[in-house]
Amino acid sequence: MSVREIVMMGDPVLREVAEEVDAFDDALRALVRDMFETMYHADGIGLAAPQIGISSRILVIDLRRDDDHDDDDEPIALVNPRVAWQSTAVEKQTEGCLSIPGLEEVVERPGEVRVEAQDPDGNPVSIAADKLLARALQHEIDHLDGVLFLDRVSPLKRRMLLKKWKKLESEEA
Ligand code: NI
Repeated sequence: MSVREIVMMGDPVLREVAEEVDAFDDALRALVRDMFETMYHADGIGLAAPQIGISSRILVIDLRRDDDHDDDDEPIALVNPRVAWQSTAVEKQTEGCLSIPGLEEVVERPGEVRVEAQDPDGNPVSIAADKLLARALQHEIDHLDGVLFLDRVSPLKRRMLLKKWKKLESEEA
């Protein structure tokens, strides 16, 4: 297992529509293990494969280090996930992203979703989620479609966040 480098906003891979996975082999399972390790190393609660430069439809989530997690939350690895149903009722909550460190904003999303996917062995999985898990699933599935949480806030807020990002980048340099 190894910790992979997380790519930052500005890298074109984060804007690609990721490829469907069709090989459920040892290489896929090794990649999933690396994704978990990378996510834990970065102290995150979710990671999508494009965030380590791999344009494949894979995500991992582990909410247990977030204060808002439920007692029954456990690590999740999903391949080819899609939102099969979403509630019309929306909720607002602050989001961040390992590819945009230092930025946070309130994002409005459907409060409940049902996600269809496969596990890393190719078995079908269906997850009904609300609260933090619903949010994390939608955030990570967005990554597989080249969408970042900044795309889901108002143009005014996005401009402010991009300005802050440029400032953080210049401080880094
Ligand atoms: Ni993210």
